[in-house]
Amino acid sequence: MAALAPTPIDADPGIADLIAARPALSMHAIDGLTLEGVPLNAIADAVGTPCWVISAGVLRARLSELQAAMAGVGAHVHYAVKANDHLAVLRVMQAGGAGADVVSGGELLRAREAGIAPERIVFSGVGKTVAELCLALETGIAQLNVESAEELEMLSATAAAMGRRARIALRINPDVDAGTHAKIATGRAEDKFGIAMADAAGLYARAAGLPGVEPVGLAVHIGSQITAMAPYRAAFARTTELVGSLRASGLAVQTLDCGGGLGIGYRDEPHGSPKALAGAMGAAFGALGLRLMIEPGRWLAGPAGLLLASVVLTKTTGSRRFVVLDAAMNDLLRPSLYDAWHGLAPLSPVDAVAPTFPADVVGPVCESGDTFARARELPVLAAHARVAILDAGAYGSVMSSTYNARPLAAEVMVDGVNWAVIRPRQPVEALWANELVPDWLAPR
Ligand code: LLP
Repeated sequence: MAALAPTPIDADPGIADLIAARPALSMHAIDGLTLEGVPLNAIADAVGTPCWVISAGVLRARLSELQAAMAGVGAHVHYAVKANDHLAVLRVMQAGGAGADVVSGGELLRAREAGIAPERIVFSGVGKTVAELCLALETGIAQLNVESAEELEMLSATAAAMGRRARIALRINPDVDAGTHAKIATGRAEDKFGIAMADAAGLYARAAGLPGVEPVGLAVHIGSQITAMAPYRAAFARTTELVGSLRASGLAVQTLDCGGGLGIGYRDEPHGSPKALAGAMGAAFGALGLRLMIEPGRWLAGPAGLLLASVVLTKTTGSRRFVVLDAAMNDLLRPSLYDAWHGLAPLSPVDAVAPTFPADVVGPVCESGDTFARARELPVLAAHARVAILDAGAYGSVMSSTYNARPLAAEVMVDGVNWAVIRPRQPVEALWANELVPDWLAPR
């Protein structure tokens, strides 16, 4: 490594800054990096890597902070199950008093399995099947957020045939750019989500006359990892206008689902806060006498989790130094899919204070997109050194695949002094256990 001169940390936060900004993490002189005081090396020794670790304490603390901010505007928190749908995570949310926002029959059943009451569940999504609508109706959930005229007719007919009346909100598309990555912006006119503002009033009136649905309100969700409040304010202003015109034409509007999307500081960049969001909600809707709800996922779960990985080897190609981990894009897809930045912290206290050099941190999958970080300032990491990929609690394990025949990683929950495996590493044989080879291919 003599050829590589140490380079100053640029705009990226350093390892010590990353740890300092995350209260559940600390660097212990002997144990190394700890989460809620539990040495992550002890978990990696017992379970191996790659391994997801989620902190129940962080989940609870964030839920409480969000609920406290939302109490001021009387808004209920419905955790967006898609962010991390593990039953243990859902149990923490349920015990903390959160409801659920689900987007599939599977998520609905998971939420129920975790004990979340039907009357605390809302169902969003642009393509609910008739089978999913039936499941929602049979379960008696609080509300279905309807995203199109076609879905409205389908739901009313399905419910009427079952002798039910579904409480629905119309999800509107306010045509607001949330200023986030294009793949996770959902509130622009060209996005597939929601009902165009111009069609919303007509459709709400239509819904009021249908036998199988009862329109109770509106829903608006403009995207994910939103770090500024201005897009929320713009979307809320349009929503307020619509509530006014619906009421002026004699239609009842009681509920408003303000969606999710609150961003987190992956890079310790400035981002919104629950208080700021509650302020925007209060300013827009405070005088309207609506029952408010929100559907956050990332803000609750993202900072609660991390992915532990070990260095397989380091190599230098031309002028670039590569650190090859045993975790890959099949485990954590976000950097490949969205060029997302995740903090990286060594587990060893010695590594954490060693001089740093720029390195590309990659996985072993056979794609150049299998890259966690480019030109990241890291110490020289030997084979077997371990790192934690930070803020991986949301849209981490849920988006994993078994690409390259890589079994799903183990998952662990830390809760104060306790920690437990909440999903064992998938045995490699499980990858093909469900596959059938037709008789005619049998070896002779
Ligand atoms: N409500 C609806 C209708 C949604 O579509 C979403 C997220 C949420 C709530 C929760 O949003 P959050 O509070 O978590 O931002 N895989 C991407 C994120 C996709 C978000 C999809 N919808 C990522 O890793 O960044």
